[in-house]
Amino acid sequence: MRERIAARRPIGIFDSGVGGLTVLSALHRRLPGESFLYLGDTARLPYGTKSAGTVQRYALKAATHLLRHGVKLLVVACNTATSFALAQLIEASPVPVAGVVEPGVRAALALGVHRIGVIGTEGTIRSGSYQRALARLDGAVSVRGVACPLFVPLAEEGWGDHPITDQVAQTYLTPLLEWGAQALILGCTHYPLLIPSLKRTAGPGVKLVDSASSVADAVAESYPSLLEPGGHGRGEIFIHLTDASEHFLKVARNILGGTPEHLEVVHLDPGGSD
Ligand code: DGL
Repeated sequence: MRERIAARRPIGIFDSGVGGLTVLSALHRRLPGESFLYLGDTARLPYGTKSAGTVQRYALKAATHLLRHGVKLLVVACNTATSFALAQLIEASPVPVAGVVEPGVRAALALGVHRIGVIGTEGTIRSGSYQRALARLDGAVSVRGVACPLFVPLAEEGWGDHPITDQVAQTYLTPLLEWGAQALILGCTHYPLLIPSLKRTAGPGVKLVDSASSVADAVAESYPSLLEPGGHGRGEIFIHLTDASEHFLKVARNILGGTPEHLEVVHLDPGGSD
């Protein structure tokens, strides 16, 4: 009975901006009966250039906001926050917390390749989270990580298929391609928005691992008792932003296939000081 009541509560998801919408969209497709509350912490974007302590503070604030709204599950749709704050979030949260690093690693290992490149924010690469997860799940693969700090603003701008993005990608990816990477993990939820440019630059021989659908599968498989059985109507999507953002709306329309119906600007500090 308690679980049936829990099943009607939304799933909470957060990221610094539009990136986590790639995960939201995969979850919405995988679990159409679920409702979602998505928090885009646009007032504090980017997370990827901040220190571990700052990202932990932001992530805890974001999670507290979602928990205050009664979410039954937290999905950290941000690699930087997963890398720096997953352990703290799990400890602080009364509901289960799912991150994005391990599903991406599992998806890459399923390809059976030996040289895996990881691209992510400065924070994610500096944290070594992917390198650790890959070593833990398959000690035999070689891993190399490259931070790509300009990718997040390009994704927020909606320049996923653009000559400037091609040039930037060329600069970031060349060392990984010369090293012989057979697969590239998109270790930032913003990067799937750049796939046209990334594909062109990486070429057909390199597999791009977008972990959004692996995250959706992992959530669906790990918490069946908390979830709505599929096929009973469509759940709703609620979006909270910490700062009004035209860019967010433009990209959200593309990813979600229409203007979000329920969108609100919120303050994470009760006094509205942020
Ligand atoms: N989308 C986020 C990630 O997956 C963070 C991007 C940022 O705010 O720097 O790391």
